[in-house]
Amino acid sequence: MFKKLGRNDECWCGSGIKYKKCHEVFDDKLAKLEREGHIIPSHDIIKTPKQIEKIKESCKINIAVLDYIAENIKAGMTTEEIDRMVYEKTTEMGGIPAPLDYEGYPKSVCVSINDIVCHGIPSEEEVIQDGDIVNVDCSTIYNGYFSDSSRMFCIGNVDPEMKKLVDVTKECVEKGLEQVKPWGFLGDMGQAVNDHAKANGFSVVREIGGHGVGLEFHEEPFVSYVTRKGTEMVMAPGMIFTIEPMINMGKADVYVDDEDDWTVFTADGSPSAQWEIMVLVTEDGYEVLCY
Ligand code: MF3
Ligand code: CO
Repeated sequence: MFKKLGRNDECWCGSGIKYKKCHEVFDDKLAKLEREGHIIPSHDIIKTPKQIEKIKESCKINIAVLDYIAENIKAGMTTEEIDRMVYEKTTEMGGIPAPLDYEGYPKSVCVSINDIVCHGIPSEEEVIQDGDIVNVDCSTIYNGYFSDSSRMFCIGNVDPEMKKLVDVTKECVEKGLEQVKPWGFLGDMGQAVNDHAKANGFSVVREIGGHGVGLEFHEEPFVSYVTRKGTEMVMAPGMIFTIEPMINMGKADVYVDDEDDWTVFTADGSPSAQWEIMVLVTEDGYEVLCY
């Protein structure tokens, strides 16, 4: 529960407006939902309009970097070259690649090919091949604000079932997005993602998911795609989180490489796909900030 402000006090959000004219109704709604047993967001993950503007500037760079990769990625290239392109484009635009030195991560981007689920570390040794499905996951810090999104790239002649995995994963994100609305639940979104993956015979990774983002790289809440409608955190206007399901062609089980402690593989060696967007909950629905 929140500390109750006086109605004539300045609102906690920094708007400079009196509480009664700003977030009082918002807080009352959340307090009611909490009494009903729901998980509610804390104030520190509710972004102000000013913060949202800043976060959007960071997103602009992240989108441009991924557009640049889309134009240039091709068979024969090493993943190290992708890393170099991400570093150069991001810094040229005044940003910092968020992964670099993040909890010891050694590169500027994650590049995850075929049975790598996520957190693939770029390397001089790893060459992108015809037929590969490749996830490029970019994150940017700009003036202290964070953005994060990823896309899949199908290189040359891709096996039809793998192409289907890539397409269905993108559809999963879109189905999830349709469920994003103020005073709904993250589980509404999670179930929509899960149902679509299952309906197509695929499985959803349980251990890794999305997250709040904007003021930090990874904020509350953890966003799972193995959840049920009507459960998980309430979606309130001003929240920003990622929708980034990892969908496997085979079993859902994954493991982390014990040599590098980062790279996540499917346990059965089957291919995995992921798309990631950043979404803002608005007063009447959502806005996609980064893709
Ligand atoms: N970009 C990833 C995400 O979507 C996080 C990668 S962490 C890193 O949350 F250190 F590996 F870059
Ligand atoms: Co993310």
